Amino acid sequence: MDCSHIQFCGDKSKVDFPQLQRLFAKTAFWARERNIDELQIAIANSNPVVTVWDKQRLIGFARATSDGIYRAGIWDVIIDPDYQGVGLGRKLVQTVLSHPLVSKVERVYLTTTHQQSFYERIGFQQNETTTMVLYNNSESSEDLARRIKEIPVAIDNW
Ligand SMILES: CC(C)(COP(=O)(O)OP(=O)(O)OC[C@H]1O[C@@H](n2cnc3c(N)ncnc32)[C@H](O)[C@@H]1OP(=O)(O)O)[C@@H](O)C(=O)NCCC(=O)NCCS
Repeated sequence: MDCSHIQFCGDKSKVDFPQLQRLFAKTAFWARERNIDELQIAIANSNPVVTVWDKQRLIGFARATSDGIYRAGIWDVIIDPDYQGVGLGRKLVQTVLSHPLVSKVERVYLTTTHQQSFYERIGFQQNETTTMVLYNNSESSEDLARRIKEIPVAIDNW
């Protein structure tokens, strides 16, 4: 496949949300149900956000969150199945890694269910330390409300 015309875009104002939602539904098993309102929130709170384009067609996406100095996370890396296997996924991840909010932090984390080999080729290592996760929606709202009440927090104007 000739990919010389494929464009990578770092301007998140250019994201086409209906196309992005369809790309997630087609390509990302963990994100098939995401709706446009939610995607807009996720993208507003992510930097950088990188999209990949074949003319007007959205064919790839990745985003990161970062504190700018210590830690960053890369999320939702996808290439349209019609365009996989020709090096675009690697270039997409490398584009995210080259952004100052990611390249200047001590550690870049990501979680992946099946794609360890893909990320190892880019330089990621299997992480021996335990990763923990809180599923906010996995318990009844009553349980969650009770547990949150038990945590002393005092933050104004959040
Ligand atoms: C994972 C994904 C982004 C890779 O994109 P891609 O454009 O197909 O990958 P590339 O063509 O850039 O591959 C780069 C290298 O990784 C290898 N690779 C790609 N996918 C691989 C896989 N599943 N297992 C092993 N190696 C893989 C390629 O062979 C290539 O190897 P090379 O260095 O010898 O040339 C793409 O397959 C995808 O969108 N998958 C579905 C969504 C997904 O699982 N995303 C990751 C979520 S964490």
